[in-house]
Amino acid sequence: MKILVIGGGGREHALAWHLAKSPRVHKVFVAPGNGGTALASPLQNVPISDNDALIKFARDESVAFTVVGPEAPLAGGIVDAFRAAGLKIFGPTQAEAQLESSKDYAKAFMVRHTIPTARYQTFTDPAQAKAYITSQGAPIVVKADGLAAGKGVVVATSVDEAHSAIDAMLGDGSLGDAGARVVIEECLLGEEASFIVMCDGNHVLPLATSQDHKRLLDGDLGPNTGGMGAYSPAPVITPALHNRIMREVIHPTMAGMAKDGLPYSGFLYAGLMIGDGPDATRTIKVLEYNCRMGDPETQPIMMRIKSDLTQVFEQAIAGKLDEANIDWDRRCAMGVVMAAANYPATPRLDDVIEHLPENTDELMVFHAGTRLDGDILKTSGGRVLCVTVLADSIKRAQAAAYAAASQVRFEGKQYRSDIGWRALPSPSE
Ligand code: AMP
Ligand code: GLY
Repeated sequence: MKILVIGGGGREHALAWHLAKSPRVHKVFVAPGNGGTALASPLQNVPISDNDALIKFARDESVAFTVVGPEAPLAGGIVDAFRAAGLKIFGPTQAEAQLESSKDYAKAFMVRHTIPTARYQTFTDPAQAKAYITSQGAPIVVKADGLAAGKGVVVATSVDEAHSAIDAMLGDGSLGDAGARVVIEECLLGEEASFIVMCDGNHVLPLATSQDHKRLLDGDLGPNTGGMGAYSPAPVITPALHNRIMREVIHPTMAGMAKDGLPYSGFLYAGLMIGDGPDATRTIKVLEYNCRMGDPETQPIMMRIKSDLTQVFEQAIAGKLDEANIDWDRRCAMGVVMAAANYPATPRLDDVIEHLPENTDELMVFHAGTRLDGDILKTSGGRVLCVTVLADSIKRAQAAAYAAASQVRFEGKQYRSDIGWRALPSPSE
């Protein structure tokens, strides 16, 4: 069978790589793909991005089904368009994708269905927004309502910083339409975890837990990024917490969407803040929904999946996720993101990439911002590679991932040296 994966990041490389392992698959098209997917037969890049052309391509190639990686095409209605054309596709419709594409929609949804989340208010007027911030005090979080590619959230440690964020978003229009409305919310403390499930409108299949590191620098300092590394499983999610998250967040979300007339299908990613304390009483709050898998969380998650994913996607598209099962490798996986110079502000492009390690079942270098220039691999985006390793422990995965990353060469490469620190015993133990 032939499969089409939409997107061109590390997440899509990992999805396509896993799908291509199935003996049923002889081609995985990736639109548009990247330098890594261009090099890895039976993956094949397809330089198409508009829906009509993708639909024609999927028809002409008799693609069995399509999987969508990023949020932008989902928010743009690619699932609606493919379904209307009678093509099989896994992902939420445009209306369902509002859970990610509008923070205000997501917050109102959570309040309506009593799903735990931070206290908030929404504003379009800068003076009112600033007055609210002054009344609440810092720390406080300012979020652009719309999609802002990871740049829409400011966790402000002072009232001045929050006011500046308002000036940038509502005053200067720094994020365009995405920032024309802002959500201001209470700053939550605790440990973050990514909880990702597959949904088919009726049923839910949870994936293995994972955790990413959103800040650019070691010690979780510096600006927010799309994610500098991730690992799976996330030890913070014990079996007891897993059950609570399903009961308190995932099932109410599915039920709420169904009640609103939008039974959700596709990946659903709940970004959670887990408060301190014993498992039975720790607070669990939703920071955000994403209507897709995480990047880079997908990369370690894919390394741990032993089942044939083609079957799971077919069951999901047929509304039979209750019959699906994923067999997980008990080992740990970790991905370290290697970013370009000046990421995330203004990443430098076109640096030559050399000395990539050999890919194996235990070590995969998933590509993101890379492209082929003739036979030369060059950087073409902020996050360039994700060096991902499967090993017996997080510690071993970390050591192997860093050994491989240190070998890779491109000018200005930057990566964190402490991915996974929360999952490791502290040095004093
Ligand atoms: P989001 O896109 O909403 O997940 O926000 C990006 C990052 O900002 C999250 O991963 C958190 O690290 C941080 N963040 C978002 N909302 C809050 C909040 N209410 N309290 C503390 N940190 C937050
Ligand atoms: N790694 C965070 C995200 O994909 O949104």
